[in-house]
Amino acid sequence: MAALLLYQAAILLLLCYLGLSSAVLFSSLPQTLIVTASPSPGQVLHAGVDPIKVTWAVNRSLAVGADAVYKKVKVSLCYAPVSQADRGWRKTNDDLKKDKTCQFKINTIPYTAGATGSYDYTVERSIPTGTYFVRAYVLDSSDTEIAYGQTTDGKKTTNLFDVVGYSGRHASLDIAAACFSAFSVASLAFLFMVEKRKAKK
Ligand SMILES: *[C@@H]1O[C@H](CO)[C@@H](O)[C@H](O)[C@H]1NC(C)=O
Repeated sequence: MAALLLYQAAILLLLCYLGLSSAVLFSSLPQTLIVTASPSPGQVLHAGVDPIKVTWAVNRSLAVGADAVYKKVKVSLCYAPVSQADRGWRKTNDDLKKDKTCQFKINTIPYTAGATGSYDYTVERSIPTGTYFVRAYVLDSSDTEIAYGQTTDGKKTTNLFDVVGYSGRHASLDIAAACFSAFSVASLAFLFMVEKRKAKK
């Protein structure tokens, strides 16, 4: 019995150890990428329609060759604090595995040392209405985050842009369009009947 308990405790400890060792804390990452995105501060983009061009380059004050271990850049759309308030499911967590700030992956692109990288993205229809910024994580050869860069400041309050969700705008337009066409078909049918009756008289 005691042996069994000991065994279970050992397994638990091992799991804890594995869990802890794989955790990457955002606060531990150096900000070595300079990231820019095309929207101007406060610009309103429409989901499913508007493009964003993201560019990144390593900060030149980083020692030459220090980016040799940089393999990929994972670019995401991230919620600004104003769109996270009272929404636990968008909460920021220092543990990147639990972090809900950057829920919307734009893409992961191979990193070219010393060169400026860029990516053209169209805001997907699934992006909800909100205020956003762009963050890029640097991944090493094991796809672990080792550095980052973002379009906003440390407090995530500058250089933000807005997205108007697809369902908010287009769905109501679509419904309005459907109603209008149903109405016009109905009125055509009505006119046709009236004309027919007139002809009969
Ligand atoms: C580059 O890094 C240096 C040193 O960390 C920092 O002072 C500087 O602001 C960074 N440059 C940009 C454009 O972020």
